[in-house]
Amino acid sequence: AAGTGGTVTADKTLALLLKGYAWLPGLRRDHPGDGPLRTRLMGRPVRVLHGPEAVAFFYDERHARRHGALPGPVLDTLFGRGAVHTLDGTDHRARKTLFLERLTEPAAVGALAERVREEFRAVVGGRRGQEVHLFDEAALVLARAVSDWAGLPGGDRAATDRLARDCVAMVDGFATPGPRHLRARRARARQEELLSRAVIQARESGAAAADTPFGAVLSHREADGSLLDPHTAAVELLNIVRPTVAIAWFTAFAAHAMSRRPDVRRRLAQEGDRGAYAVSFAHEVRRFYPFVPFLGALAPDGLVLDGERLPHGTMLLLDVFGQNHDPELWEEPYRFDPERFLRAAPHRDDLIPQGGGPREGHRCPGEDVTVAVLSVLARELARLDFAVPDQDLRIPLNRIPTRPRSGVRLVVGA
Ligand code: HEM
Repeated sequence: AAGTGGTVTADKTLALLLKGYAWLPGLRRDHPGDGPLRTRLMGRPVRVLHGPEAVAFFYDERHARRHGALPGPVLDTLFGRGAVHTLDGTDHRARKTLFLERLTEPAAVGALAERVREEFRAVVGGRRGQEVHLFDEAALVLARAVSDWAGLPGGDRAATDRLARDCVAMVDGFATPGPRHLRARRARARQEELLSRAVIQARESGAAAADTPFGAVLSHREADGSLLDPHTAAVELLNIVRPTVAIAWFTAFAAHAMSRRPDVRRRLAQEGDRGAYAVSFAHEVRRFYPFVPFLGALAPDGLVLDGERLPHGTMLLLDVFGQNHDPELWEEPYRFDPERFLRAAPHRDDLIPQGGGPREGHRCPGEDVTVAVLSVLARELARLDFAVPDQDLRIPLNRIPTRPRSGVRLVVGA
């Protein structure tokens, strides 16, 4: 029936900024009800969706428009203007093939994970007896591996390390006003400029290898048959590189989990390179730790949700963090338990740290890469003889995106 959801009338923009990950779960707790929770955000009416059925509803493209859904400050930092995230219908489907062809091909995914392993070994191999700042080093490792794998034109080491820091800044500053946000804007502007120039040069010289992601972006055809303009090409290259570097967040969380759970670490260390435990561990890290808080889209005019005809301009929010900790879906949701994914593989619309629905929709095309890279790094870390010196490993839930405060410092054994 219409209107069974808890209703919250005041605009909650400020509450979101203050409460971060705890905002939606807190609202749900304070305003229980069966239907979608109602609130307001940035002046718009909002309906909050939660649960596998709601995920399927949200990912039905008749129910959710992406064009105009993301605020400018998010586009100018995290995703870029004209990104695949902002497209609908045939334009979206055509652009999405660019990502799906590369990122879901097992040999290509395996090759990227292998590059990450080599770079990680090169970094920690030279640091015996020293302290390593895991978050920062993981970002460098991931940027070096993905630049090489994607066939980005040969920047030197300093340029790749700058790219790593810029990608971290773009993610770190998207959801917050102030200096972090300005850093994120500058980082995006700089990398879009560099990559646009690289695209123009490569097209002029015809030098790019066609079988790399870089080559694929250069020759990709839109729904209307046109090539990507250099700026959009740069935006989409960053939509491969930036989220790969963002696996640094999950890497820090993986080390956090190992520091708390020596039994988990031992089991990871004992397993062979193709074992299923590290994959289950990667899924559990993605489920358990806070990264994406929620996702947004605009309801088309006249959309009926749960018996209610939604007001013009309604924003649909999918409660990602809340759903990944819902006791209806997960036994003991606040227990870190990789074995839950050994007992049963994740269902499409239950585990949604990277979105839900079919891949052809807006679901993240980088899930295979994330799981492969994270399981490789988890095994490497677990086998490494490292100690965790005294530090602040708390993960503040009012900061989006969050991570262990210290960034996780490790002392690598001799
Ligand atoms: C979309 C999360 C890694 C590329 C998304 C979405 C989420 C997400 C929540 C949005 C789904 C939606 O809008 O409904 C993550 C997380 C990652 C990660 C937490 C871990 C670090 C990756 C990687 C790549 C990637 C490694 C590529 C190499 C993309 C692209 C989209 C996307 C291109 C846009 C898809 C579309 O709009 O159709 N990701 N992702 N992501 N992700 Fe990821």
